[in-house]
Amino acid sequence: MKDRRSPGDTPPEEFRKQLHELADWIADFRENIESLRVAPNEKPGAVREQLPAQPPEKGEPFEKILNDVDRLIVPGMVHWSHPMFLGYFGWTTTAPGILGEIITAPLNVNAMTWRTCPAATELETVVIDWLRQWLGLPDEFGGVVYDTASVGIMHALAVAREQAAPSTRKLGLTNRDLPRFRIYTSDQAHSAAEKSAIALGIGEENVRRVPSDNEFRMEISTLRRMIAQDRQEAFQPIAVVATVGTTSSASVDPIPEIAKICREEKMWLHIDGAYGGAFTMMPEYKWVSRGWEMADSIVVNPHKTLFVPLDFSVLYVRDLERLRRVFTLVPEVLRGDTIEGEKNYMDYGIQLGRRFRALKAWVIWRSLGREGVVSRLREQIRLANLLASWIKSDNRFERAAPVSMGVVCFRFVRADKDEIDRSNSEIVERINSSGRAYLTQTKLRGRTVMRIGLGNVLTTEEHLRKAWQIIQETASKL
Ligand SMILES: Cc1ncc(COP(=O)(O)O)c(C=O)c1O
Repeated sequence: MKDRRSPGDTPPEEFRKQLHELADWIADFRENIESLRVAPNEKPGAVREQLPAQPPEKGEPFEKILNDVDRLIVPGMVHWSHPMFLGYFGWTTTAPGILGEIITAPLNVNAMTWRTCPAATELETVVIDWLRQWLGLPDEFGGVVYDTASVGIMHALAVAREQAAPSTRKLGLTNRDLPRFRIYTSDQAHSAAEKSAIALGIGEENVRRVPSDNEFRMEISTLRRMIAQDRQEAFQPIAVVATVGTTSSASVDPIPEIAKICREEKMWLHIDGAYGGAFTMMPEYKWVSRGWEMADSIVVNPHKTLFVPLDFSVLYVRDLERLRRVFTLVPEVLRGDTIEGEKNYMDYGIQLGRRFRALKAWVIWRSLGREGVVSRLREQIRLANLLASWIKSDNRFERAAPVSMGVVCFRFVRADKDEIDRSNSEIVERINSSGRAYLTQTKLRGRTVMRIGLGNVLTTEEHLRKAWQIIQETASKL
């Protein structure tokens, strides 16, 4: 007789057993992470080579799959959560963050409209507003959660574009006798502005890079000059993207002055606070949010600074309705699932299907509270300044930028003049391939520098001291 049983899901008892096993796996991973190499030292293709090229024909037991995670995947990873991972901006893994991700997995909803998941939609609105209060933003700012800051900037500039050329959403940009638009950002800003210009049909070349001063902040007088010159040449300046916490050195642009120019010139002001914005939660860093009340949009990445696991980025727009008007569009199939007057987050961007990202933010922010967040940010800054003092006391090294937030840029200078760049790059390469620590290299004013980002809650003063010793030893051996 034909077997009519549905193939269905794993039987509940077996699933429970697997979950217990997984809980132990996660706890062991977290507890023993320090015993792992921070990064592998394999050639490209090393992981792929060990995996079957063909997809499986028959299902395999979970135990075997988890075993392969240990055997093939974990050794082939850069462990961003490792306490000796000091690359980029540090990293946001925490135990409560992991729990938040785990709770999200079985719920697996689509938060595209209020009706498709009221709790996901309403919680998103609540956590966006909690964060707004923490940032001290006026309540005329409303927000939306996206995956990344790059996506947030693109949506913000889409509204700026619509404002500069109404009906672009409907008619597009071509054959309308429009001037070429211009967007301004500093030479230290993230490349997301260019990516947005590419996506929005504004064109990469129309993002103009304004030089920065000796502390890597946008030069205001040059910004003014560039705008005036562009107007004379019949370009239309539409927006400035100012940064709070630039990618290389975490410098902060002079927002109040930039905001004034934007008001005078009727330009959109977007603030890229992807990394640095959240530091305004600390009374001693309140100054970074001066002038924000004059911005049109602000992006903050809690997945960089506020301990929410990747991905979670919030775009705030003054009068959020302006964003909705550019993107709202209800397909027939969703008409029945859309209630007038309730927030349907699909209306605030190009994405339809949306993860329930708010849940993990809610879990981590409730677990830490404002006090817990601020004390951890303060510790990052203490460690960054401590490292700067060690750099100062070794004359083979020098700081390459002011210490800002949790970022320290420095340079090994005891090498042949022509070799300094290569030496700095070599130190980072050697350390990263040793698996003992992980740093980033970047360029400031064309010179290669080493860069450490503090952010990981597992990184202690001891770890940082060890990393500094590794840097000194590696430099001595060059
Ligand atoms: C200042 C700044 N803005 C934007 C971004 C882009 O962030 P995301 O990866 O969320 O798109 C970064 C990434 O490092 C950044 O440093």
